Amino acid sequence: MDALQSLFAAAMAARSHAYAPYSGFAVGAALLTPEGQIFSGANVENAAYPVGLCAEASAIAGMIAAGAREISELLVCADSAEPVTPCGACRQRIFEFALPSARIHCADLRGAQTSFSLASLLPQAFGARHLVSNPNASEGETP
Ligand code: THU
Repeated sequence: MDALQSLFAAAMAARSHAYAPYSGFAVGAALLTPEGQIFSGANVENAAYPVGLCAEASAIAGMIAAGAREISELLVCADSAEPVTPCGACRQRIFEFALPSARIHCADLRGAQTSFSLASLLPQAFGARHLVSNPNASEGETP
């Protein structure tokens, strides 16, 4: 199985556990680190709608909790006519841990259909480099 197939399988497995009773739209995401680790996540909705968590955010949380810090590529999957792309907030979340050249794969239930560079999904992104003139800013690491 190649990396893309592994990401799709992991995202689909996570999607099968999605908690999406309000939208009925189950989403799975999986990301690959440079070390070859895969972390997956599903959307987790809430009766207080804005509190819901996207699949990408949940995959990133797993990566951080395991001590990894970099996303090489990420796949998101859902059952939609047009393969699902990460929402705007998740593009920013991915940008925190990925290079602009990182590939973002968009899948339906059959597999990955299209892919984009992160830079094309979030051009001129705001990032840690914009905080360098702020003397109170940290390097993004826990002290
Ligand atoms: N959702 C994701 O989990 N990831 C995306 O990239 C798009 C949207 C979720 C949020 C919400 O639970 C449901 O899909 C409908 O918007």
